[in-house]
Amino acid sequence: MSDTLGTQHLLGIDDLSAGDIDLILRTADGFKEVLARPMRKVPSLRDITVANIFFENSTRTRLSFELAEKRLSADVVNFSASSSSTKKGETLLDTVNNILAMKVDLVVMRHQDPGAAVFLAKHTKARVINAGDGAHEHPTQALLDAYSIREKFGKVAGVKVAIVGDILHSRVAWSNVRCLQKLGAEVMLCGPVTLIPKHAAELGVRISHDLDAALRWCDVANMLRIQMERQGDGPAYFPSLREYTMLFGLDRKRYESLGKEVVLMHPGPINRGVEISSDMADSGASIILQQVENGVAVRMAVLYLLAAGMDRTGIS
Ligand code: NCD
Repeated sequence: MSDTLGTQHLLGIDDLSAGDIDLILRTADGFKEVLARPMRKVPSLRDITVANIFFENSTRTRLSFELAEKRLSADVVNFSASSSSTKKGETLLDTVNNILAMKVDLVVMRHQDPGAAVFLAKHTKARVINAGDGAHEHPTQALLDAYSIREKFGKVAGVKVAIVGDILHSRVAWSNVRCLQKLGAEVMLCGPVTLIPKHAAELGVRISHDLDAALRWCDVANMLRIQMERQGDGPAYFPSLREYTMLFGLDRKRYESLGKEVVLMHPGPINRGVEISSDMADSGASIILQQVENGVAVRMAVLYLLAAGMDRTGIS
């Protein structure tokens, strides 16, 4: 079992082997223990500077990374596009080069364009973590989801996971499919015909347009949000939110009609009453807050492992 990652950056799940993912999850176990102690801070990233560069709005992911970095004793700088020169026409590379000139070792970036993190990694010396690039990938979300499933079931292999909702526009869905498949889970994508791309079946996942059937099949349902901001002004993908909720929303009545337990997940932010009812989101079946808690430990593991493989003399 190796104790180093086979990658310098975390741009997408494809950068990781199953062994790398296992190493991240095992390392996160240790950090989860640290987070449960009265002294929740370790010196692992002392003298390492991390820049969180967010070109797209985020609350939980940015906070989760920042907390992870601070628990590891890193120096942290934050940058968000709304308060920056990007509004004045500066390019992504200019912005990033300016930040790196200040001797930053690791960059955590969220950007609205798919491929932005790959571009950045090609043009900088720093290690890059993709915190979400358009509808492309969100690898740390998939890792924390896998961690949460493993915590609940004691394993990921063989667990049946249905990912429900706006698959077409969801970076969480794509990263989850890749990550879960690498770990041997069975994956189903469920949603309206218009929100599941035609090529999805080629990925070796099951496809369903019937939520009740999906729920009867799965052990875990990951209920995704409708990504309104990515659906554009063209023809609507479904007739109305009300109809969407009737067909693809999970409420207590639907859950109880199953007569079995299904673990409920959601990456947040939740649109309560649309993809999941409030009472189900807060029910004993839901592990939504455990996901948030695990997110800090998993991000600590990713930061720690990427920094451990760093040539400290060559970097900043
Ligand atoms: C997700 C994202 O930003 O892709 N949220 C998150 O990272 N917490 C999912 C979403 O926005 O629906």
